[in-house]
Amino acid sequence: MANPYFAKEAPETYWKTSTDLPSFPALQEDTECDVTIIGGGITGITTAYELTKRGFRVVLIEANQVLNGTTAHTTAKITAQHDMIYDELIRNFGLNHARLYYEANQNAVDYIKGIVDEHQINCEWTEQDAYLYTANENAVQKIRTEHEAYTKLGIERDLIKDLPIPLGSKLALVMKNQAQFHPLQYLKALLEQIVQKGGRIFEDTVALDIKKGERPEVITKTRHAIKSRFIICCSHFPFYDGGGLYATRMYADRSYVLAIKPKIEYPEGMYLSIDKPSVALRYTLVNGEKLILFSGEGHKTGQGKDMSTHYETLRQMAESTIGIESIPYYWSTQDLVTIDKIPFIGPMSENEDNILVATGFKKWGMTSSAVAATLLSDLVEKKDNPYESIFTPSRFHLNPGLQKVISYNADVAKHFIKGKLEKPDVQFEEIAAGEGKAVTINGRRAGAFRDETGCLHLVDTTCTHLGCEVEWNDGEHTWDCPCHGSRFKPTGEVVEGPAIKPLKQIDLN
Ligand SMILES: Cc1cc2nc3c(=O)[nH]c(=O)nc-3n(C[C@H](O)[C@H](O)[C@H](O)COP(=O)(O)OP(=O)(O)OC[C@H]3O[C@@H](n4cnc5c(N)ncnc54)[C@H](O)[C@@H]3O)c2cc1C
Ligand code: FES
Repeated sequence: MANPYFAKEAPETYWKTSTDLPSFPALQEDTECDVTIIGGGITGITTAYELTKRGFRVVLIEANQVLNGTTAHTTAKITAQHDMIYDELIRNFGLNHARLYYEANQNAVDYIKGIVDEHQINCEWTEQDAYLYTANENAVQKIRTEHEAYTKLGIERDLIKDLPIPLGSKLALVMKNQAQFHPLQYLKALLEQIVQKGGRIFEDTVALDIKKGERPEVITKTRHAIKSRFIICCSHFPFYDGGGLYATRMYADRSYVLAIKPKIEYPEGMYLSIDKPSVALRYTLVNGEKLILFSGEGHKTGQGKDMSTHYETLRQMAESTIGIESIPYYWSTQDLVTIDKIPFIGPMSENEDNILVATGFKKWGMTSSAVAATLLSDLVEKKDNPYESIFTPSRFHLNPGLQKVISYNADVAKHFIKGKLEKPDVQFEEIAAGEGKAVTINGRRAGAFRDETGCLHLVDTTCTHLGCEVEWNDGEHTWDCPCHGSRFKPTGEVVEGPAIKPLKQIDLN
Protein backbone atom coordinates (compact mmCIF):
# COMPACT_ATOMS: atom_id res chain seq x y z
CA MET A 1 0.00 0.00 0.00
CA ALA A 2 1.30 3.47 -0.82
CA ASN A 3 2.48 5.25 2.28
CA PRO A 4 0.37 8.39 2.88
CA TYR A 5 3.50 10.31 3.88
CA PHE A 6 5.34 9.68 0.67
CA ALA A 7 5.42 12.89 -1.39
CA LYS A 8 5.69 13.24 -5.13
CA GLU A 9 6.97 16.76 -4.53
CA ALA A 10 8.91 18.04 -1.54
CA PRO A 11 6.23 18.92 1.04
CA GLU A 12 5.75 22.53 2.22
CA THR A 13 6.31 23.58 5.79
CA TYR A 14 3.65 25.18 7.95
CA TRP A 15 5.89 28.23 8.40
CA LYS A 16 6.09 28.86 4.67
CA THR A 17 2.41 28.42 3.92
CA SER A 18 1.50 30.84 6.72
CA THR A 19 3.89 33.67 5.78
CA ASP A 20 3.81 36.06 2.87
CA LEU A 21 7.48 36.82 2.31
CA PRO A 22 8.76 39.81 0.33
CA SER A 23 10.83 39.23 -2.80
CA PHE A 24 14.03 40.98 -3.85
CA PRO A 25 15.78 41.53 -7.21
CA ALA A 26 18.89 39.68 -8.41
CA LEU A 27 22.21 41.54 -8.37
CA GLN A 28 22.75 43.02 -11.85
CA GLU A 29 26.04 44.94 -11.47
CA ASP A 30 29.29 45.20 -9.50
CA THR A 31 28.86 46.94 -6.16
CA GLU A 32 30.58 47.91 -2.89
CA CYS A 33 29.58 48.02 0.77
CA ASP A 34 31.02 47.61 4.29
CA VAL A 35 29.95 44.00 4.84
CA THR A 36 28.74 41.37 2.36
CA ILE A 37 26.64 38.60 3.86
CA ILE A 38 26.03 35.37 1.99
CA GLY A 39 22.88 33.41 2.85
CA GLY A 40 19.31 34.49 3.51
CA GLY A 41 18.51 32.16 6.43
CA ILE A 42 18.18 33.15 10.09
CA THR A 43 21.97 33.53 10.46
CA GLY A 44 22.46 35.86 7.49
CA ILE A 45 19.33 37.90 8.25
CA THR A 46 19.99 38.32 11.99
CA THR A 47 23.61 39.30 11.28
CA ALA A 48 22.50 41.79 8.61
CA TYR A 49 19.93 43.18 11.06
CA GLU A 50 22.56 43.64 13.79
CA LEU A 51 25.11 45.24 11.46
CA THR A 52 22.66 47.66 9.82
CA LYS A 53 21.50 48.64 13.31
CA ARG A 54 25.13 49.42 14.17
CA GLY A 55 25.34 51.67 11.11
CA PHE A 56 27.15 49.43 8.59
CA ARG A 57 26.29 49.39 4.88
CA VAL A 58 25.32 45.78 4.26
CA VAL A 59 24.63 43.72 1.14
CA LEU A 60 22.98 40.33 1.71
CA ILE A 61 22.86 37.87 -1.19
CA GLU A 62 20.82 34.70 -1.38
CA ALA A 63 21.23 31.94 -3.97
CA ASN A 64 17.47 31.23 -4.20
CA GLN A 65 14.75 33.04 -2.26
CA VAL A 66 15.31 34.21 1.30
CA LEU A 67 14.06 31.86 4.01
CA ASN A 68 13.90 28.75 1.90
CA GLY A 69 16.72 26.76 3.51
CA THR A 70 16.86 24.97 6.86
CA THR A 71 15.33 28.00 8.61
CA ALA A 72 12.03 27.47 6.78
CA HIS A 73 11.97 23.85 7.99
CA THR A 74 13.00 24.28 11.61
CA THR A 75 10.90 23.62 14.72
CA ALA A 76 11.96 26.99 16.17
CA LYS A 77 12.39 26.26 19.87
CA ILE A 78 14.44 29.06 21.37
CA THR A 79 16.40 27.54 24.19
CA ALA A 80 19.81 27.05 25.75
CA GLN A 81 18.78 23.46 26.52
CA HIS A 82 20.73 22.01 23.60
CA ASP A 83 19.94 18.35 24.25
CA MET A 84 22.45 16.61 26.60
CA ILE A 85 25.41 18.95 26.41
CA TYR A 86 26.45 20.60 29.66
CA ASP A 87 27.92 17.58 31.46
CA GLU A 88 29.87 16.73 28.29
CA LEU A 89 31.13 20.32 27.93
CA ILE A 90 32.28 20.38 31.55
CA ARG A 91 34.08 17.02 31.14
CA ASN A 92 35.71 17.91 27.82
CA PHE A 93 36.47 21.61 28.20
CA GLY A 94 35.99 22.59 31.86
CA LEU A 95 33.42 24.45 33.90
CA ASN A 96 34.26 27.93 32.62
CA HIS A 97 33.88 26.89 28.98
CA ALA A 98 30.53 25.23 29.69
CA ARG A 99 29.33 28.28 31.61
CA LEU A 100 30.22 30.61 28.74
CA TYR A 101 28.44 28.34 26.25
CA TYR A 102 25.29 28.41 28.39
CA GLU A 103 25.54 32.15 28.98
CA ALA A 104 25.96 32.90 25.25
CA ASN A 105 22.85 30.90 24.39
CA GLN A 106 20.72 32.14 27.29
CA ASN A 107 21.69 35.71 26.31
CA ALA A 108 20.57 34.80 22.79
CA VAL A 109 17.07 33.94 24.08
CA ASP A 110 16.95 37.39 25.70
CA TYR A 111 18.38 39.03 22.55
CA ILE A 112 15.58 37.61 20.38
CA LYS A 113 12.97 38.61 22.97
CA GLY A 114 14.45 42.14 22.98
CA ILE A 115 14.01 42.39 19.19
CA VAL A 116 10.45 41.04 19.36
CA ASP A 117 9.57 43.64 22.02
CA GLU A 118 11.41 46.55 20.39
CA HIS A 119 9.65 46.13 17.03
CA GLN A 120 6.41 44.71 18.44
CA ILE A 121 6.77 41.69 16.15
CA ASN A 122 3.69 39.53 15.92
CA CYS A 123 5.43 36.16 15.77
CA GLU A 124 3.62 34.02 18.34
CA TRP A 125 6.41 34.45 20.88
CA THR A 126 5.50 32.45 23.97
CA GLU A 127 7.64 31.68 26.97
CA GLN A 128 7.90 27.93 27.55
CA ASP A 129 9.78 25.57 29.82
CA ALA A 130 12.06 23.12 27.99
CA TYR A 131 11.98 19.48 29.13
CA LEU A 132 14.69 16.87 28.51
CA TYR A 133 13.31 13.45 29.45
CA THR A 134 13.86 9.73 29.23
CA ALA A 135 11.26 6.99 29.00
CA ASN A 136 13.95 4.40 29.69
CA GLU A 137 14.76 3.36 33.29
CA ASN A 138 18.37 2.64 32.26
CA ALA A 139 18.90 6.24 31.09
CA VAL A 140 17.62 7.91 34.27
CA GLN A 141 21.18 8.31 35.58
CA LYS A 142 22.11 10.30 32.46
CA ILE A 143 19.38 12.83 33.26
CA ARG A 144 20.63 13.01 36.87
CA THR A 145 24.18 13.65 35.66
CA GLU A 146 23.01 16.45 33.35
CA HIS A 147 21.04 17.86 36.29
CA GLU A 148 24.26 17.93 38.34
CA ALA A 149 25.91 19.86 35.49
CA TYR A 150 23.02 22.41 35.58
CA THR A 151 23.56 22.74 39.34
CA LYS A 152 27.30 23.38 38.89
CA LEU A 153 26.52 26.00 36.24
CA GLY A 154 23.81 27.68 38.28
CA ILE A 155 21.13 27.06 35.62
CA GLU A 156 17.55 27.49 36.85
CA ARG A 157 16.22 23.94 36.77
CA ASP A 158 13.84 21.32 38.07
CA LEU A 159 13.93 17.52 38.16
CA ILE A 160 10.51 15.91 37.78
CA LYS A 161 9.23 12.39 37.24
CA ASP A 162 5.92 12.88 35.47
CA LEU A 163 5.51 15.14 32.48
CA PRO A 164 2.21 16.94 31.85
CA ILE A 165 1.96 14.85 28.65
CA PRO A 166 1.84 11.04 28.30
CA LEU A 167 5.30 10.36 26.90
CA GLY A 168 6.17 7.61 29.41
CA SER A 169 8.76 9.77 31.17
CA LYS A 170 10.80 8.17 33.96
CA LEU A 171 12.66 11.38 34.75
CA ALA A 172 12.82 14.85 33.19
CA LEU A 173 15.11 17.85 33.54
CA VAL A 174 13.39 21.20 33.15
CA MET A 175 15.10 24.40 31.96
CA LYS A 176 12.82 27.27 32.90
CA ASN A 177 11.75 30.34 30.93
CA GLN A 178 12.75 29.37 27.41
CA ALA A 179 10.59 30.21 24.36
CA GLN A 180 9.11 29.31 20.98
CA PHE A 181 7.98 31.44 18.03
CA HIS A 182 6.98 31.52 14.37
CA PRO A 183 10.43 31.90 12.79
CA LEU A 184 9.39 33.32 9.42
CA GLN A 185 7.05 35.96 10.85
CA TYR A 186 9.91 37.08 13.09
CA LEU A 187 12.44 37.11 10.24
CA LYS A 188 10.07 38.88 7.86
CA ALA A 189 10.05 41.78 10.34
CA LEU A 190 13.87 41.71 10.46
CA LEU A 191 14.01 41.89 6.66
CA GLU A 192 11.85 45.04 6.80
CA GLN A 193 14.18 46.55 9.40
CA ILE A 194 17.27 45.79 7.29
CA VAL A 195 15.76 47.47 4.23
CA GLN A 196 14.55 50.47 6.28
CA LYS A 197 18.10 50.99 7.57
CA GLY A 198 19.56 50.96 4.05
CA GLY A 199 20.63 47.31 3.80
CA ARG A 200 20.41 45.86 0.29
CA ILE A 201 19.13 42.33 -0.33
CA PHE A 202 19.50 40.34 -3.55
CA GLU A 203 17.86 37.00 -4.32
CA ASP A 204 18.74 34.54 -7.10
CA THR A 205 22.33 35.64 -6.59
CA VAL A 206 24.75 32.77 -6.05
CA ALA A 207 28.16 33.42 -4.47
CA LEU A 208 30.65 31.35 -6.42
CA ASP A 209 34.02 32.43 -5.13
CA ILE A 210 35.90 34.85 -2.92
CA LYS A 211 38.87 36.95 -4.01
CA LYS A 212 40.98 37.54 -0.91
CA GLY A 213 42.57 40.91 -0.13
CA GLU A 214 42.33 43.98 2.03
CA ARG A 215 38.91 44.57 0.53
CA PRO A 216 37.89 41.03 -0.39
CA GLU A 217 35.39 40.41 -3.20
CA VAL A 218 32.52 37.98 -3.54
CA ILE A 219 32.22 36.81 -7.11
CA THR A 220 28.72 35.76 -8.13
CA LYS A 221 27.64 33.15 -10.65
CA THR A 222 26.74 35.97 -13.06
CA ARG A 223 30.32 37.26 -12.65
CA HIS A 224 29.45 40.37 -10.66
CA ALA A 225 31.80 41.42 -7.87
CA ILE A 226 30.83 42.75 -4.44
CA LYS A 227 33.75 44.49 -2.76
CA SER A 228 33.63 45.11 0.99
CA ARG A 229 35.69 45.35 4.16
CA PHE A 230 34.25 42.10 5.48
CA ILE A 231 32.57 39.04 4.02
CA ILE A 232 30.39 36.91 6.26
CA CYS A 233 29.49 33.44 5.03
CA CYS A 234 26.12 32.28 6.42
CA SER A 235 25.41 29.83 3.60
CA HIS A 236 24.83 26.90 5.99
CA PHE A 237 27.67 24.65 4.72
CA PRO A 238 30.32 27.27 3.76
CA PHE A 239 30.37 27.53 -0.04
CA TYR A 240 33.99 28.67 0.30
CA ASP A 241 36.48 26.83 2.48
CA GLY A 242 39.38 29.29 2.72
CA GLY A 243 41.67 26.50 3.92
CA GLY A 244 39.46 25.91 6.97
CA LEU A 245 38.90 22.25 5.98
CA TYR A 246 35.23 22.36 6.97
CA ALA A 247 34.51 19.16 5.05
CA THR A 248 36.68 17.23 7.50
CA ARG A 249 35.16 18.81 10.61
CA MET A 250 31.41 18.83 10.02
CA TYR A 251 28.63 16.56 8.79
CA ALA A 252 25.00 17.05 7.76
CA ASP A 253 22.24 15.38 9.76
CA ARG A 254 18.59 15.17 8.59
CA SER A 255 15.42 14.98 10.70
CA TYR A 256 11.71 14.67 9.96
CA VAL A 257 8.78 16.74 11.21
CA LEU A 258 5.08 15.84 11.34
CA ALA A 259 2.68 18.72 12.11
CA ILE A 260 -0.12 16.92 13.91
CA LYS A 261 -3.60 17.76 15.17
CA PRO A 262 -3.49 15.56 18.28
CA LYS A 263 -6.21 13.61 20.02
CA ILE A 264 -5.09 14.70 23.49
CA GLU A 265 -5.25 18.15 25.05
CA TYR A 266 -1.66 19.31 24.58
CA PRO A 267 -0.25 21.23 27.60
CA GLU A 268 2.38 24.00 27.52
CA GLY A 269 6.07 23.05 27.18
CA MET A 270 8.72 21.91 24.68
CA TYR A 271 9.81 18.30 25.09
CA LEU A 272 12.88 16.40 23.90
CA SER A 273 13.67 12.77 24.69
CA ILE A 274 17.25 11.59 25.10
CA ASP A 275 16.29 8.04 24.01
CA LYS A 276 16.87 6.32 20.70
CA PRO A 277 14.82 6.90 18.64
CA SER A 278 14.60 10.43 19.97
CA VAL A 279 11.56 12.62 19.57
CA ALA A 280 10.86 16.34 20.10
CA LEU A 281 7.53 18.13 20.56
CA ARG A 282 6.29 21.70 20.65
CA TYR A 283 3.02 23.29 19.58
CA THR A 284 2.14 26.19 17.34
CA LEU A 285 -1.27 27.84 17.25
CA VAL A 286 -3.27 27.62 14.02
CA ASN A 287 -6.65 29.41 14.18
CA GLY A 288 -6.60 29.05 17.95
CA GLU A 289 -5.95 25.29 17.79
CA LYS A 290 -2.69 23.62 18.78
CA LEU A 291 -0.76 21.96 15.98
CA ILE A 292 2.00 19.75 17.40
CA LEU A 293 5.38 19.65 15.67
CA PHE A 294 6.47 16.09 16.31
CA SER A 295 10.03 15.60 15.07
CA GLY A 296 12.86 13.10 15.15
CA GLU A 297 14.34 10.13 13.23
CA GLY A 298 17.65 11.97 12.71
CA HIS A 299 20.36 10.37 10.57
CA LYS A 300 23.37 11.49 8.55
CA THR A 301 22.25 12.88 5.19
CA GLY A 302 22.35 10.28 2.40
CA GLN A 303 22.68 7.47 4.96
CA GLY A 304 19.07 6.99 6.10
CA LYS A 305 16.47 4.37 5.31
CA ASP A 306 13.73 4.81 2.78
CA MET A 307 12.24 8.27 3.65
CA SER A 308 8.71 6.95 4.05
CA THR A 309 10.03 4.59 6.76
CA HIS A 310 11.26 7.55 8.79
CA TYR A 311 7.91 9.33 8.50
CA GLU A 312 6.05 6.11 9.33
CA THR A 313 8.16 5.47 12.46
CA LEU A 314 7.43 9.00 13.67
CA ARG A 315 3.73 8.57 12.88
CA GLN A 316 3.58 5.39 14.96
CA MET A 317 5.32 7.09 17.89
CA ALA A 318 2.84 9.99 17.68
CA GLU A 319 -0.15 7.66 17.42
CA SER A 320 0.90 5.81 20.57
CA THR A 321 1.50 8.97 22.62
CA ILE A 322 -0.50 12.08 21.62
CA GLY A 323 -2.88 10.35 19.16
CA ILE A 324 -3.47 11.68 15.64
CA GLU A 325 -6.56 13.47 14.32
CA SER A 326 -4.78 14.53 11.14
CA ILE A 327 -1.33 15.47 9.78
CA PRO A 328 -1.80 18.67 7.75
CA TYR A 329 1.94 19.21 7.10
CA TYR A 330 5.12 17.22 7.16
CA TRP A 331 8.67 17.94 6.02
CA SER A 332 12.31 17.07 6.51
CA THR A 333 15.49 19.09 6.61
CA GLN A 334 19.13 18.97 7.67
CA ASP A 335 21.52 20.85 9.88
CA LEU A 336 25.29 20.67 10.31
CA VAL A 337 27.11 19.17 13.26
CA THR A 338 30.73 19.94 14.15
CA ILE A 339 32.99 17.27 15.60
CA ASP A 340 33.07 18.86 19.06
CA LYS A 341 29.35 19.84 18.84
CA ILE A 342 30.12 23.56 19.21
CA PRO A 343 29.30 25.89 16.28
CA PHE A 344 31.99 27.52 14.16
CA ILE A 345 31.57 31.31 14.48
CA GLY A 346 34.47 33.61 13.64
CA PRO A 347 37.24 33.99 11.04
CA MET A 348 36.97 31.38 8.27
CA SER A 349 40.64 30.47 8.76
CA GLU A 350 43.52 31.65 10.91
CA ASN A 351 45.02 33.85 8.18
CA GLU A 352 41.87 35.71 7.21
CA ASP A 353 40.28 38.06 9.69
CA ASN A 354 38.06 39.79 7.12
CA ILE A 355 36.29 36.61 5.92
CA LEU A 356 34.01 35.31 8.67
CA VAL A 357 31.71 32.31 8.96
CA ALA A 358 28.85 30.97 11.10
CA THR A 359 27.82 27.34 10.76
CA GLY A 360 27.54 23.96 12.52
CA PHE A 361 24.55 24.67 14.79
CA LYS A 362 23.63 21.01 15.56
CA LYS A 363 19.89 21.74 15.20
CA TRP A 364 20.06 24.66 17.66
CA GLY A 365 20.39 27.52 15.20
CA MET A 366 17.68 29.78 16.66
CA THR A 367 19.92 30.79 19.56
CA SER A 368 23.25 30.04 17.81
CA SER A 369 22.37 32.44 14.97
CA ALA A 370 21.77 35.20 17.52
CA VAL A 371 25.11 34.37 19.18
CA ALA A 372 26.66 34.61 15.70
CA ALA A 373 24.99 37.94 14.88
CA THR A 374 26.44 39.72 17.92
CA LEU A 375 29.82 37.95 17.90
CA LEU A 376 30.42 38.56 14.19
CA SER A 377 29.28 42.18 14.48
CA ASP A 378 31.75 42.65 17.35
CA LEU A 379 34.52 41.16 15.19
CA VAL A 380 33.63 43.62 12.40
CA GLU A 381 33.75 46.46 14.93
CA LYS A 382 36.99 45.06 16.42
CA LYS A 383 35.29 44.88 19.82
CA ASP A 384 36.07 42.21 22.41
CA ASN A 385 33.45 39.52 22.79
CA PRO A 386 33.57 37.09 25.76
CA TYR A 387 32.51 34.12 23.60
CA GLU A 388 35.05 34.52 20.78
CA SER A 389 37.45 31.78 21.90
CA ILE A 390 34.69 29.19 22.44
CA PHE A 391 33.24 29.46 18.97
CA THR A 392 36.31 30.33 16.91
CA PRO A 393 36.59 27.89 13.97
CA SER A 394 40.37 27.70 14.43
CA ARG A 395 40.04 26.04 17.85
CA PHE A 396 41.18 22.48 17.93
CA HIS A 397 40.76 20.43 21.02
CA LEU A 398 42.71 17.23 20.73
CA ASN A 399 40.49 15.50 23.15
CA PRO A 400 37.93 14.42 22.02
CA GLY A 401 38.22 16.18 18.64
CA LEU A 402 41.06 14.24 17.10
CA GLN A 403 39.44 10.86 17.60
CA LYS A 404 36.23 12.20 16.09
CA VAL A 405 38.05 13.70 13.09
CA ILE A 406 39.57 10.31 12.41
CA SER A 407 36.31 8.39 12.76
CA TYR A 408 34.37 11.04 10.79
CA ASN A 409 36.83 10.95 7.92
CA ALA A 410 36.83 7.15 8.02
CA ASP A 411 33.06 7.31 7.59
CA VAL A 412 33.44 9.66 4.59
CA ALA A 413 36.08 7.37 3.09
CA LYS A 414 33.80 4.34 3.58
CA HIS A 415 31.01 6.04 1.62
CA PHE A 416 33.44 7.26 -1.00
CA ILE A 417 34.76 3.76 -1.66
CA LYS A 418 31.45 1.90 -1.24
CA GLY A 419 29.78 4.11 -3.84
CA LYS A 420 32.61 3.65 -6.33
CA LEU A 421 32.46 -0.14 -6.07
CA GLU A 422 28.70 -0.40 -6.49
CA LYS A 423 27.35 -1.58 -9.88
CA PRO A 424 23.56 -1.53 -9.36
CA ASP A 425 21.69 -4.11 -11.44
CA VAL A 426 18.55 -2.06 -12.19
CA GLN A 427 16.92 -1.89 -15.62
CA PHE A 428 15.37 1.41 -16.79
CA GLU A 429 11.97 -0.35 -17.25
CA GLU A 430 11.91 -1.07 -13.50
CA ILE A 431 11.84 2.66 -12.67
CA ALA A 432 8.27 3.94 -12.29
CA ALA A 433 7.14 7.56 -12.86
CA GLY A 434 8.26 9.71 -9.91
CA GLU A 435 10.97 7.22 -8.92
CA GLY A 436 14.74 7.57 -8.87
CA LYS A 437 17.32 4.76 -8.68
CA ALA A 438 21.03 4.14 -8.99
CA VAL A 439 21.77 2.24 -12.22
CA THR A 440 24.85 1.14 -14.15
CA ILE A 441 25.65 2.85 -17.46
CA ASN A 442 28.71 1.78 -19.45
CA GLY A 443 30.08 0.00 -16.39
CA ARG A 444 29.78 3.05 -14.14
CA ARG A 445 27.30 3.96 -11.42
CA ALA A 446 24.76 6.59 -12.52
CA GLY A 447 21.42 8.01 -11.36
CA ALA A 448 18.11 7.62 -13.22
CA PHE A 449 14.90 9.49 -12.45
CA ARG A 450 11.64 9.06 -14.38
CA ASP A 451 9.41 12.16 -14.27
CA GLU A 452 5.60 12.15 -14.34
CA THR A 453 5.56 12.37 -18.16
CA GLY A 454 7.63 9.17 -18.35
CA CYS A 455 10.81 10.95 -19.43
CA LEU A 456 14.04 9.49 -17.98
CA HIS A 457 16.69 11.87 -16.61
CA LEU A 458 20.19 10.46 -16.18
CA VAL A 459 22.96 12.00 -14.08
CA ASP A 460 26.49 11.09 -13.06
CA THR A 461 26.13 10.25 -9.35
CA THR A 462 29.62 11.58 -8.54
CA CYS A 463 29.08 14.52 -6.17
CA THR A 464 30.65 17.68 -7.59
CA HIS A 465 31.94 18.68 -4.14
CA LEU A 466 34.60 16.08 -3.39
CA GLY A 467 33.53 13.07 -5.42
CA CYS A 468 31.43 10.80 -3.14
CA GLU A 469 28.46 8.98 -4.69
CA VAL A 470 25.04 10.55 -4.15
CA GLU A 471 22.03 8.49 -3.03
CA TRP A 472 18.37 8.87 -4.03
CA ASN A 473 16.13 10.54 -1.40
CA ASP A 474 12.62 9.26 -2.12
CA GLY A 475 10.92 11.66 0.30
CA GLU A 476 12.27 14.92 -1.12
CA HIS A 477 13.07 13.65 -4.64
CA THR A 478 16.69 14.71 -4.52
CA TRP A 479 20.11 13.11 -4.92
CA ASP A 480 21.79 13.43 -1.48
CA CYS A 481 25.48 13.09 -0.72
CA PRO A 482 26.37 10.91 2.29
CA CYS A 483 29.71 12.67 2.80
CA HIS A 484 28.98 16.36 3.50
CA GLY A 485 25.27 16.63 2.75
CA SER A 486 25.09 18.31 -0.69
CA ARG A 487 21.71 17.78 -2.37
CA PHE A 488 20.77 17.92 -6.03
CA LYS A 489 17.51 17.98 -8.04
CA PRO A 490 16.61 14.82 -10.01
CA THR A 491 18.04 16.59 -13.06
CA GLY A 492 21.27 17.48 -11.27
CA GLU A 493 20.92 21.17 -10.24
CA VAL A 494 22.23 22.05 -6.76
CA VAL A 495 19.57 22.27 -4.03
CA GLU A 496 21.96 22.60 -1.10
CA GLY A 497 25.77 22.92 -0.82
CA PRO A 498 28.66 22.65 -0.17
CA ALA A 499 28.57 21.59 -3.85
CA ILE A 500 28.25 24.56 -6.20
CA LYS A 501 28.24 22.78 -9.55
CA PRO A 502 25.35 20.57 -10.75
CA LEU A 503 25.67 16.83 -11.25
CA LYS A 504 26.76 16.06 -14.80
CA GLN A 505 23.83 15.06 -17.00
CA ILE A 506 24.26 11.89 -19.07
CA ASP A 507 23.01 11.80 -22.63
CA LEU A 508 22.72 8.29 -24.07
CA ASN A 509 22.29 9.53 -27.67
C1 LIG B 1 14.45 19.18 11.84
C2 LIG B 1 15.16 20.35 12.45
C3 LIG B 1 14.58 21.01 13.52
C4 LIG B 1 15.24 22.10 14.09
N1 LIG B 1 14.66 22.69 15.17
C5 LIG B 1 15.34 23.67 15.82
C6 LIG B 1 14.83 24.23 17.01
O1 LIG B 1 13.76 23.84 17.50
N2 LIG B 1 15.54 25.20 17.62
C7 LIG B 1 16.74 25.61 17.14
O2 LIG B 1 17.39 26.45 17.76
N3 LIG B 1 17.24 25.12 15.97
C8 LIG B 1 16.57 24.17 15.31
N4 LIG B 1 17.08 23.64 14.17
C9 LIG B 1 18.30 24.22 13.60
C10 LIG B 1 18.03 25.52 12.83
O3 LIG B 1 16.84 25.41 12.10
C11 LIG B 1 19.22 25.78 11.89
O4 LIG B 1 20.41 25.71 12.63
C12 LIG B 1 19.12 27.15 11.25
O5 LIG B 1 17.86 27.31 10.63
C13 LIG B 1 20.25 27.34 10.22
O6 LIG B 1 20.06 28.60 9.67
P1 LIG B 1 21.08 29.18 8.60
O7 LIG B 1 20.66 30.57 8.32
O8 LIG B 1 22.47 28.98 9.12
O9 LIG B 1 20.92 28.24 7.33
P2 LIG B 1 19.78 28.25 6.20
O10 LIG B 1 18.45 28.58 6.76
O11 LIG B 1 19.90 26.96 5.48
O12 LIG B 1 20.21 29.44 5.27
C14 LIG B 1 21.37 29.39 4.45
C15 LIG B 1 21.05 30.11 3.15
O13 LIG B 1 22.24 30.27 2.40
C16 LIG B 1 21.91 30.16 1.03
N5 LIG B 1 23.12 29.83 0.27
C17 LIG B 1 23.81 28.64 0.28
N6 LIG B 1 24.87 28.72 -0.58
C18 LIG B 1 24.83 29.96 -1.11
C19 LIG B 1 25.65 30.64 -2.08
N7 LIG B 1 26.72 30.03 -2.63
N8 LIG B 1 25.33 31.90 -2.44
C20 LIG B 1 24.25 32.54 -1.87
N9 LIG B 1 23.45 31.94 -0.96
C21 LIG B 1 23.74 30.69 -0.59
C22 LIG B 1 20.89 29.04 1.01
O14 LIG B 1 20.11 29.09 -0.18
C23 LIG B 1 20.08 29.33 2.27
O15 LIG B 1 18.94 30.12 2.01
C24 LIG B 1 16.47 22.55 13.58
C25 LIG B 1 17.05 21.88 12.50
C26 LIG B 1 16.43 20.79 11.95
C27 LIG B 1 17.12 20.07 10.86
S1 FES C 1 29.07 16.93 -0.26
FE1 FES C 1 31.19 16.59 -0.12
S2 FES C 1 31.52 14.96 -1.51
FE2 FES C 1 29.42 15.37 -1.65
